[in-house]
Amino acid sequence: MQHLIISAHPNKNSFSNALAEALAADSRNNNANPMIRNLYEIDFNPILTNSDLSQIKDGLIPPDISREQKLLKEADLISIVYPLWWGSFPAVLKGYFDRVLTNGFAFKISTDGPEGLLKGKKIVLHTSMGNSVEEYEKKGILDAFRQIHGNEVFGFCGIEIVGHFFYPRISDSSEEMKNRYIEKALENYQPIFSSQQQIPVKM
Ligand SMILES: Cc1cc2nc3c(=O)[nH]c(=O)nc-3n(C[C@H](O)[C@H](O)[C@H](O)COP(=O)(O)O)c2cc1C
Repeated sequence: MQHLIISAHPNKNSFSNALAEALAADSRNNNANPMIRNLYEIDFNPILTNSDLSQIKDGLIPPDISREQKLLKEADLISIVYPLWWGSFPAVLKGYFDRVLTNGFAFKISTDGPEGLLKGKKIVLHTSMGNSVEEYEKKGILDAFRQIHGNEVFGFCGIEIVGHFFYPRISDSSEEMKNRYIEKALENYQPIFSSQQQIPVKM
């Protein structure tokens, strides 16, 4: 099982990157093959340009996009780990989606409407935030985060969303609390790893 972990936090010592590292270690313990793609470390260029758009339209995929698409194609399980910034993804992650999830790779549009092309893959989203979950529930937008960050991006591409976890008040949380969140996150992966073991090995 190939597990692609996409992390989008500039600080190596952040909760997000600690969680990404823990997910990778846990994957190895569960016979999955993890790869962390930290978009800041690889200096991913998030700006979708007119030149990108015209090349993609002509079926020419710029090399930095094609490299990421290959990793996505090979992945059975994808984890996205990011802090909530202005109610959304950090710009580098949004730009990764803009540039990598291209028409013809992640989806296609036919006369029957849009069709996701990344079927058969599972994804788990991890969103750390400064606010509490209750604050967002009170405003009625927690579910909107699930829809917009999850279904509108990955659901559209045909990927099965198997979990979306929110980590509240991370900026004020103790190390102990952060470790508890990480432990809980790893527990949430157990059903995914055990169900995968029953799937026959791909030829
Ligand atoms: C530019 C910026 C925008 C932010 N916007 C939000 C926000 O909209 N909602 C929220 O709850 N927290 C917001 N925060 C707080 C971060 O989500 C929080 O610091 C982060 O999740 C902490 O986790 P980390 O240790 O992985 O950085 C913002 C922080 C920054 C730097």
